[in-house]
Amino acid sequence: MRWTLWIVLGLFPLIDGHPTLKTDQNSLETADAALNHQNGSLNSVLHLDDTEKAALETTRNDPAFPMKELNTSHYPATRAAKVAQHYLNYHHGSPFKWFMVHAVKKASSEDIPEVGKKYHIQFSVQEQATKEIVGNCTAEILFRHTEVQSAPEVNCTCDDLLKIKTSDADHALYHHIKHQPEPMTGMDIPDSHGNIPKEMEPFWYLGGIGASFIMWQQSNESTLYNMAHVHSVKQLNSENDLLAFEYVVLLHDMVSQEIIHWHMQVAWNPTQGVKVTQCHLLPKGTLKQPSAEKHKI
Ligand SMILES: *[C@@H]1O[C@H](CO)[C@@H](O)[C@H](O)[C@H]1NC(C)=O
Ligand SMILES: *[C@@H]1O[C@H](CO)[C@@H](O)[C@H](O)[C@H]1NC(C)=O
Ligand SMILES: *[C@@H]1O[C@H](CO)[C@@H](O)[C@H](O)[C@H]1NC(C)=O
Ligand SMILES: *[C@@H]1O[C@H](CO)[C@@H](O)[C@H](O)[C@H]1NC(C)=O
Ligand SMILES: *[C@@H]1O[C@H](CO)[C@@H](O)[C@H](O)[C@H]1NC(C)=O
Repeated sequence: MRWTLWIVLGLFPLIDGHPTLKTDQNSLETADAALNHQNGSLNSVLHLDDTEKAALETTRNDPAFPMKELNTSHYPATRAAKVAQHYLNYHHGSPFKWFMVHAVKKASSEDIPEVGKKYHIQFSVQEQATKEIVGNCTAEILFRHTEVQSAPEVNCTCDDLLKIKTSDADHALYHHIKHQPEPMTGMDIPDSHGNIPKEMEPFWYLGGIGASFIMWQQSNESTLYNMAHVHSVKQLNSENDLLAFEYVVLLHDMVSQEIIHWHMQVAWNPTQGVKVTQCHLLPKGTLKQPSAEKHKI
């Protein structure tokens, strides 16, 4: 027997840009996840009859759908790990700390009928500034089968790497930027020779971490996004103690080989971390050719 959950969403703020959820879902997990994702005023009304409730109980008591071991070097595992990487960077990265999946150690997936596919991935992480292998993570990544693109849901726990502190460097950079007479600007990172001047590295990382938010939101099971290039970065006026930057970044989907351009505003300070406050996809062909303008910092 089919059952229906009606989730009446009140004011539905797009926390972290989560796309609007569909209001007619076919699983309690879906509803739970939806509720967990909310952070604003919310009314939830469940209309279930007893048979429907019983059906749900069975699902809940037997959550384990058959698990399929995956080859850790094949696309399904690496794509899911990449999503976890984006999630990790957006939540824990800084202008001096940028994480990459180093190796996928173990991977499995389960098909959850009428919901989607959930991946369980273990991987080691390399930090880009030091090139050190800094820890191991375990992640669950759920790609929901939805009509419109929705961000994969990610849980990610890591051991030592979250203890890495870059707060001295973060604070030094923050004060340096705050006390400059002119707003910081930059173009084309890396440059046409593939070089990143040392003083632009934190803005490359910061762009990468902001882009991670977009790449996480835009990912599905058949994408593999990396940030290819920072077209431009410009410091904006900000009225609070966050520094604000406007970026145009080029993202590369290695599966379709498409390069897409995104405009984003990124706010950062050493205590609150990185937040993408606005972002939108730029239509193809809107960018000028790379200009010869030099970095000003
Ligand atoms: C939810 O809102 C509270 C208060 O505005 C905030 O502290 C918290 O970080 C938010 N949680 C998420 C997941 O955005
Ligand atoms: C995983 O795939 C690679 C390349 O296709 C293959 O060489 C390797 O033996 C596979 N590993 C396992 C455990 O099947
Ligand atoms: C990651 O886990 C492996 C065992 O799977 C262990 O040998 C290694 O020391 C761990 N790495 C870190 C940085 O904790
Ligand atoms: C993440 O963890 C929460 C709490 O344990 C759980 O309810 C949720 O289903 C998990 N999400 C994923 C994608 O595994
Ligand atoms: C995944 O995203 C790409 C790029 O937006 C899109 O072309 C593709 O149709 C999506 N695939 C699925 C299965 O949603």
